Amino acid sequence: MSVIVPSAITRRSLLAGAASVGVAASLPSAADSSRMQEFGLTAAPGRVPLVGESYPATEVWCYGNRIPGPELRVRQGQPVRVVVRNELPEDTTVHWHGIRLPNAMDGVPGLSQPPIKPGEQFVYEFTPPDAGTFWYHPHADSLKQLGRGMAGALIVEEPEPVAVDRDLLWMLSDWRLTSLAQIASGFGNAMEAAMSGRVGNTITVNGGVSEQVSVRSGERIRLRLVNCALARMMALRFEGHRPVVVAIDGQPCEPHEAPGGRLLLGPAMRVDVVLDMQGDPGRRYRVIDDFYDGLSYWLTQLAYDAGPPMRAHPLDAPLSLPRNPVPEPDVATAERHVLRLQGGMMGGGAMMGMGGMQGMGHGASWGINGHSMTGDGHAGMPPLLTLQRGRSYVLTLRNETAWWHPMHLHGFSFRVLSRNDSPVPYRQWADTVLVPPKETVDIAFVADNPGDWMLHCHVTDHQVSGMMTVLRVA
Ligand code: C2O
Ligand code: CU
Repeated sequence: MSVIVPSAITRRSLLAGAASVGVAASLPSAADSSRMQEFGLTAAPGRVPLVGESYPATEVWCYGNRIPGPELRVRQGQPVRVVVRNELPEDTTVHWHGIRLPNAMDGVPGLSQPPIKPGEQFVYEFTPPDAGTFWYHPHADSLKQLGRGMAGALIVEEPEPVAVDRDLLWMLSDWRLTSLAQIASGFGNAMEAAMSGRVGNTITVNGGVSEQVSVRSGERIRLRLVNCALARMMALRFEGHRPVVVAIDGQPCEPHEAPGGRLLLGPAMRVDVVLDMQGDPGRRYRVIDDFYDGLSYWLTQLAYDAGPPMRAHPLDAPLSLPRNPVPEPDVATAERHVLRLQGGMMGGGAMMGMGGMQGMGHGASWGINGHSMTGDGHAGMPPLLTLQRGRSYVLTLRNETAWWHPMHLHGFSFRVLSRNDSPVPYRQWADTVLVPPKETVDIAFVADNPGDWMLHCHVTDHQVSGMMTVLRVA
């Protein structure tokens, strides 16, 4: 298999004029637009050995002929240009998940751009204001396109390097494979859509089932975890280790250990942890996902080199990352709205809270405040709320269903203020927040980015069957 790694081309001045197009005035502007970072991404079918040599290669859809797609590494505050070519047999778009960018670059078909037709291309240009761990994926026919493997990391580097020995990325994907390692059909099963969504049977780390990851005693690793699954929630525990969470959805938080040492990652969520490798040389430690009761498995193992520790004591360099320029919402004067998440199956099989739901399409099983928008995005989606530009908002996400929902807002990072009215510690920001069944989460943000922005559940089946809405910033 040939692996196509994109090259970052530094183009002196050539694109200087184009770089500023559409950059919202409220976002930091490019300090030096001559440092255009340019990439090419081709979306196309491919074949990849996901489960090892003893199985046939898996037919996938992917970026750059690989799973996951190429890791795009860019500098904070410097313009980025990505030319996306579509060689799939159907329309696609690319959504730059978590990046605060101009609406026209957000990749929602119909709403923010026309879809990219087969054989055509689209040029995305934006200047990432925030450093951190982000990712990209299609926003067209998402169940199939994301479910067949289209996802890649977008890493925005801090201006000063962070004091760690290694920076590792784990793109975690969940696949439903047949016994011949092919992607099972049946995307969009209505019964599944009204429950947990399409949870698979094979989990890969960076595009392959993982036996082990080699580490050295004494080293400090920054590990970037990205849940690229369609529907699978994860709760990761590192046997014998104490990961310190330093960023959530790319945004730095006060460094802290996760409750019970369990890192909760719903679909689309990211967590950056710092791991001081204090295990014994020569030993292996399992990384366990025990989100689903009775279905725990190990994702991989940390395999220590047998050599002597790199250093006798853990580094004492500070763990906190530099803050990003996200505007601080004024919670005291913020306008407040409640978004009720509704629908889905209960134990007995009845739909919950769907009476009087105004479906925009058939096959709706979920809704927000009595409305169901289905699909991946299209023209003419009426906004649920119109927000005033520059104003602070508090949204209460009230989950009235029996299921978990990782709720994603495009175009913003928001403060996670409270859960069930208890304040959330460690100054957490997010773009995708996990709302457990029957619980409530309050989020806050400044509506500084104009446009029509999607807000939806990132369990893809839930999104496409109704748990989606649009917020307009006028
Ligand atoms: Cu990660 Cu609307 O998407
Ligand atoms: Cu959901």
